[in-house]
Amino acid sequence: MREVLEDVHELVRSLVGQGRVADYIPALAEVEPRRFGLAVATLDGEVTGVGDYRVPFSVQSLAKVFALAAVLGADGDQIWGRVGREPSTHPFNSLVQLEIDRGVPRNPFLNAGALVTTDRLLTLTGDAAGALRGFLRAESGNPALDSDPRVADSELAHGHRNASLAHLIASYGNLENPVPEVLDHYVRGCALSASCADLALAGLFLARGGVGADGTPVLSREATKRLNATMLVCGMYDGAGEFAYRVGLPAKSGVGGGIIAVVPNRCVLCVWSPALDVCGNSVAGVAALEHLTARTGWSVF
Ligand code: DON
Repeated sequence: MREVLEDVHELVRSLVGQGRVADYIPALAEVEPRRFGLAVATLDGEVTGVGDYRVPFSVQSLAKVFALAAVLGADGDQIWGRVGREPSTHPFNSLVQLEIDRGVPRNPFLNAGALVTTDRLLTLTGDAAGALRGFLRAESGNPALDSDPRVADSELAHGHRNASLAHLIASYGNLENPVPEVLDHYVRGCALSASCADLALAGLFLARGGVGADGTPVLSREATKRLNATMLVCGMYDGAGEFAYRVGLPAKSGVGGGIIAVVPNRCVLCVWSPALDVCGNSVAGVAALEHLTARTGWSVF
């Protein structure tokens, strides 16, 4: 496996650094764009990786998968009354999309949708960011995994767009908690730092029919199938169609440059490279997953 990953690393070397590092969160603009890490966690919990696969980076929207899983696990299907599961045609932070959808975010991976799942997790636990951190620590087996306060503060100080989204959702009566609290928990969840190795392990329940690190279910098999299906159509935002065509796996990206992809009943992949395309997806990351799946034949199709 390491040899395959090394070949993939070699194939994408010229793409690493191509694209733009997210700079609307100033702390993310300081990240070195030429980083690249790739890890594979197999069902038995073994991790193989290359490059910077043990270097923590800002998970950003990757957190949305785990927040949704935590809500589905605690609350069943209720969240689907407050957020849709259709792909979006506008960017991940679009106000227009939310207005068109009349305050019911089109899917849980848009910022608007994740604000709603964070709101529900806050109601359910009293500490959404803490619950999310606990979930990631337990599933990755890394007790040191934590939120980076510099990134969280930086995002909060420049988070006018998310504040607008939260207020618009509230104006439609679709928030249970005060806007500042929801934003605070959302931003601290996005600011969690984790490595490719951590995240591939943390996502393994998605490849194991919902079975978590301790052998007990995080989610039912049915709920896991649905979460993977939602990732497939919504996880890469307005780049989801192109990603499905090139890679053919359920996946989720973050503006920190990470992508998690699930190969059901086999493994979870996590790639990190901070320079992004126009949809907010890692340029070298998508290319690496394309090469890896072409080489291995891994796909849900
Ligand atoms: O709310 C934001 O804009 C960021 N904290 C997360 C956005 C993100 O990662 C979108 N993914 N590509």
